[in-house]
Amino acid sequence: MVKGRIFSGMQPSGKFHLGNYLGALENWVKLQKDYECFFSIVDWHALTSSYEDTSKLQQNIFDMALDWLSAGLDPEHNVIFVQSHVKEHAELHLLLSMMTPLSWLERVPTYKDKIQQLGNQGKDINTYGFMGYPELMTADILLYKADTVPVGEDQLPHLELSREIARRFNHMYKPIFPEPNPFLSKASLLPGIDGRKMSKSYGNEIPFAASPDELRARVRQMITDPQRVKKSDPGNPDVCTVYTFHKIYSPDELESIGTACRQATIGCVECKKRLAERMVTALADIHTRRIALEANPGRVKEILEYGAERARAVAAATMAEVRQVMNL
Ligand code: ADP
Ligand code: NA
Repeated sequence: MVKGRIFSGMQPSGKFHLGNYLGALENWVKLQKDYECFFSIVDWHALTSSYEDTSKLQQNIFDMALDWLSAGLDPEHNVIFVQSHVKEHAELHLLLSMMTPLSWLERVPTYKDKIQQLGNQGKDINTYGFMGYPELMTADILLYKADTVPVGEDQLPHLELSREIARRFNHMYKPIFPEPNPFLSKASLLPGIDGRKMSKSYGNEIPFAASPDELRARVRQMITDPQRVKKSDPGNPDVCTVYTFHKIYSPDELESIGTACRQATIGCVECKKRLAERMVTALADIHTRRIALEANPGRVKEILEYGAERARAVAAATMAEVRQVMNL
């Protein structure tokens, strides 16, 4: 039994990292079993905040496809495609924009926060496209009549806006769109090697595509309990980034590692070595699949073309309905 239809997208902005995987992609890999899923590499969204230098865009799209496929998203079972390959996203975005009050977009928290942070001078916020980001996201979701959207806490206001726009459309013309429901991800935020939230904007990330040696090097750079200077000092695992990662990668050894740290019977160097080997093992299959796919760009292109074809079929049917109820 299929539980519903999911739409979800990610921006191909480069440097897909472990936080993105554990916070989002890993969950998609689980959801694909129970839901009919549309997963989109949303390249137009990437332009809403970085439109000036597009020279890496195609490479970033390819890399993201590699990340998704090697993580285990099944391109037969799901519809995996690039947003800009399906022009109906743009048409629905335009039509929805006609009926969306500006005040609805102005009160979206991510927009308000950006304005407050940068003032009106920030060049990425005084564009029409940036403000319309949640409008485009709404078009993405409604185009496939998705009833379920996996989101993090920070995306909830965007989804609320999507529901409002769907209601308004349904009320004004004909009720053709389901109101999409959020599916809140339970994953907590993964820290980066400096202990802050892992984010490409901090440069503290562990790349999802990291080789075993890169993984080891990044783990060596992780910050530990700052009070623990010598190996003989007892440590506090609760403030240690390495320990946070052990929670994910060494659940069976967690207690003994915590105790050994507190009693100073294990040093940070050894503790990091153990973590690194755990991570190398956990990510080995993904890594192998990624390397194989990377060597076969033609196959990746085929997969994305196949996905776009299937997405287009659904999108075209929705747009035919939209045009009809709007007398277009
Ligand atoms: P970044 O913060 O690196 O720019 P994005 O904003 O592009 O990452 O996030 C893409 C997806 O990955 C979102 O679903 C987001 O919630 C998730 N994500 C990003 N960083 C983390 C993290 N450190 N821990 C868990 N999930 C994360
Ligand atoms: Na983010």
